Amino acid sequence: MATERTFSIIKPDATRRNITGAITKMLEDAGLRVVASRRIRMTREQAEGFYAVHRERPFFNDLCAFMTSGPVVVQVLEGDDAVVRNREVMGATNPADADEGTIRKTYAESIEANSVHGSDSPENAQVEIDFFFKPDEIVG
Ligand code: CMP
Repeated sequence: MATERTFSIIKPDATRRNITGAITKMLEDAGLRVVASRRIRMTREQAEGFYAVHRERPFFNDLCAFMTSGPVVVQVLEGDDAVVRNREVMGATNPADADEGTIRKTYAESIEANSVHGSDSPENAQVEIDFFFKPDEIVG
């Protein structure tokens, strides 16, 4: 199995509740290593650029408003099969559908305030990592 990198965001509902450490522990316990991490306040421009693929969706404006409503923690995670592994530990987008023991089942408040984002493919992971990090900010 190849070592891979994926991109993660700990969202404003989680920073507000001071559970960034608890979530990071779940990521680490799932075999993922945090090789870059930065707490930021996303600008509207960053949120709209990052979620550009969802621009036509009815929830796009609310999503961008939510993602800029408080601090987030952007992270690069490394590990075997990191994209799939991260998606497994995150659980389904809607916490109502998420399996027991996943981050979203444990912590998410709603489909919008769902505590974490994770890349859905290695190709998108690279795009999303490059959106927030320079190569020398990632230390594996
Ligand atoms: P994320 O993985 O960050 O990618 C896009 C986000 O849009 C997703 O998590 C959800 O938080 C949000 N989202 C997806 N579907 C809906 C929806 N139907 N209503 C509101 N937000 C949604």
